[in-house]
Amino acid sequence: MLEVRAATEADLESAAECIGEAFASGDDAQYDTIRQEVLHAAHDDPFLSLDDLRVGVIDGVVVSTVAVMPRPIHVDGSILSMGGLAGVCTRESHRHHGYNTAVLRDTIQYIEDSGHDISLLYTGIHGYYERLGWRSFEHGVAHDIIVSGDVAAPAFRGSVRPMHATDDLAAVREIYDVTNRDKAGPVARNAAYWTYHSDRLASYHVAVADRRVVAYLHDTDGKRIEEIGYLPGAEDAAVALVADVLQRATAGIERVYLRDGEALLAGIAELGCDVEQLGADSDGRRGPTMYCIMRPAPLLDKLLPRMSERLAASPAGDWSGVVRVQSGVGNVDLKCADASVTRVPDADAPSITLHATHTQTIELVFGQIDAASLVTNAADLTEDAAAVLQALCPRLAYRYYGPDMF
Ligand SMILES: CC(C)(COP(=O)(O)OP(=O)(O)OC[C@H]1O[C@@H](n2cnc3c(N)ncnc32)[C@H](O)[C@@H]1OP(=O)(O)O)[C@@H](O)C(=O)NCCC(=O)NCCS
Repeated sequence: MLEVRAATEADLESAAECIGEAFASGDDAQYDTIRQEVLHAAHDDPFLSLDDLRVGVIDGVVVSTVAVMPRPIHVDGSILSMGGLAGVCTRESHRHHGYNTAVLRDTIQYIEDSGHDISLLYTGIHGYYERLGWRSFEHGVAHDIIVSGDVAAPAFRGSVRPMHATDDLAAVREIYDVTNRDKAGPVARNAAYWTYHSDRLASYHVAVADRRVVAYLHDTDGKRIEEIGYLPGAEDAAVALVADVLQRATAGIERVYLRDGEALLAGIAELGCDVEQLGADSDGRRGPTMYCIMRPAPLLDKLLPRMSERLAASPAGDWSGVVRVQSGVGNVDLKCADASVTRVPDADAPSITLHATHTQTIELVFGQIDAASLVTNAADLTEDAAAVLQALCPRLAYRYYGPDMF
């Protein structure tokens, strides 16, 4: 009989074995690495507690697991609580008995009870999670920089060097926060999280102008630029960091992957490099990212202060009325009055109604679609109403950095 519950310290070894077996595909070295990673995360991840590891146990052996990875995330200047999923697996000997589905159902309840607003996972078996509520999210921008010939000297007048893990950390953290707090999706990294991932810093480079770190870049093996951050106006420093990666690229590297970095494309072109945007796969494969909104009302409550600020600053700041969002995850009424937005229970007659699927609701929260496209009655979309919707649901840049994936 399967017992589904939070892991205890005594389950950890068995859970790590279960996850190692499922993801190592028979590779012993890989098995050891994964096992160690599970134990390291369970003990040291600053956002994680042992309760976050959900297990299915038979006769004292962990046969199926789901690890919740709690992460605060930035959305447009607010912080949401995200419960990511990792380590979803069942020992091969115990598959097809409904064990993992049972652990996942328990996990969904646990994520809600823990107060997470939204959940994120990466997968190649979308259907498995779709039946339980997760939805594909096909956003985010990536490019390939084509490495060919000489890289022109960047216009930046400062210097580029490897990051000093301790001396530069405060500056890099600040740049990360400035770069990401208004975006949608990136982890709100606190000091403990930077420390937990301090091994990454060995592959960071920084750009320095007037003895101040103004930009940083994180690449893996010169092949993938996973992350770039820069202070406002320091695009030239960021482009110099990209040029440095291209100059370091060894023979044989023809393309350097660049996550995000749209604002730097013109500067990269000046280095004499072509850039190709990576879109949906030509073979139509889906991206790996899936989200599920867990608690729509509390999630919206966290966004209300920014909505009010934006409404107050918008040309429709004195508009009053109710915007109803009818969505695949429930209905929410937002009342606008006196340049402020509040959530109200069941308003009588909304002025504007938006109808969104669960997928569209996720896209709306992350600023990837226009709210106006979801208005059910076109006649409601007056000039004022359009300005209100833009204030409530602004378009945002989506980010989730590769090294923060789980
Ligand atoms: C995916 C996995 C966790 C399922 O574990 P399980 O305990 O066998 O799952 P359950 O018995 O609860 O559910 C199985 C059902 O899920 C569904 N399912 C399984 N794989 C699926 C897939 N690739 N796509 C869609 N549905 C799938 C099927 O309906 C399946 O029913 P079946 O057993 O009659 O074939 C397990 O196969 C595993 O550990 N795989 C290796 C690790 C892995 O890939 N994990 C997912 C990472 S995102």
